[in-house]
Amino acid sequence: KKRVVSGIKPTGEMTLGNYIGAISNFVKMQDEFEMFVFVADLHALTTPQDPVRLRRLVREIVMVYLACGLDPAKTKLFLQSEIAEHSMLSWVLQCHTNMGELERMTQFKDKSAEQKAKSGAIGSGLFCYPVLMAADILLYNPDVVPVGEDQKQHVEITRDIAGRFNHQHGETFVIPEDYTPEVGARIMSLQDPTKKMSKSDENAKGYILLLDEPATIIKKIKSAVTDSEGIVAYDPVNKAGISNLLTIYSVLKNQSIDASVAEFADSNYGTFKQTVGECIVEALTPIQEKFRYYQENPELVDAILDEGAAAVQPIATKNMKKVYKKVGLNRK
Ligand code: TYM
Repeated sequence: KKRVVSGIKPTGEMTLGNYIGAISNFVKMQDEFEMFVFVADLHALTTPQDPVRLRRLVREIVMVYLACGLDPAKTKLFLQSEIAEHSMLSWVLQCHTNMGELERMTQFKDKSAEQKAKSGAIGSGLFCYPVLMAADILLYNPDVVPVGEDQKQHVEITRDIAGRFNHQHGETFVIPEDYTPEVGARIMSLQDPTKKMSKSDENAKGYILLLDEPATIIKKIKSAVTDSEGIVAYDPVNKAGISNLLTIYSVLKNQSIDASVAEFADSNYGTFKQTVGECIVEALTPIQEKFRYYQENPELVDAILDEGAAAVQPIATKNMKKVYKKVGLNRK
């Protein structure tokens, strides 16, 4: 079986973008691949976090993973911070990465500008963020890394770092492929459809949370920014808002964009939005019910995380030893 590794950063509540761009694909892949899915809690520290809130968000992501259908019998679920080798490998890789490469990362450019505006300073953790992500991936030698569009560049730099390390020290890492879904790799903000839907948006109307109430979901979709043309058609450049809603609908309905366009050929935007809203509610209701089940059974969640960590730890230990040996950090 080919191996798949991916993770999500616990810096906010999970959005429909996280579900469509990432989690729903993990769920589809778990039958075919050996899956390792973690919570990137160390990555959360790259921006200031309240410890109490962070602890809550970490648990929430695990419950969301489970509620969305990740099956612990097929997918190993764990916390990044509980496998110390992520940090250890990150350091070694950092010593094989150039500052210039990290400066070029678009996420760093965006987030560092935000941090600078807020506090006047840029954290070095934010700068080294992609190296930790490379360590998350390379530690397990996966074949495929499923991510949304915005994380593709980080998988690319991972490939570069791995290639360089292999070249310098001999074959060590598998060079992983990225995987982004053809439709839904970039779900856009409902309020500004030229920006991606993000949990860190200060306008809550821009995103749908997986745990949003049905009435809230319908309301947010109804107030989504569209255009004045009045024709439901797919044109991401000129009709970004409508195209985004068509994408969401098509993915959740598991049908092609063309089929959705045909379905709404005679509909006005009001009817279209109502149907899209209801479709989202229908998709999220069972997820929310399962989420509540895990919320009521926290010991189940802990057992799953313990089991996941125990399953991946030997792989991490073995690969880390190999890396230390390659660079000369092995006394015996
Ligand atoms: P994060 O937590 O920002 O996002 C988690 C996953 O959700 C995808 N995503 C989206 N997809 C489509 N439309 C959107 N609007 C949208 N918003 C988010 C992201 O692309 C991602 O796949 N650095 C990563 C976490 C990480 C990781 C890793 C991922 C750490 N180590 C190793 C893969 C492998 C991050 O912050 O994703």
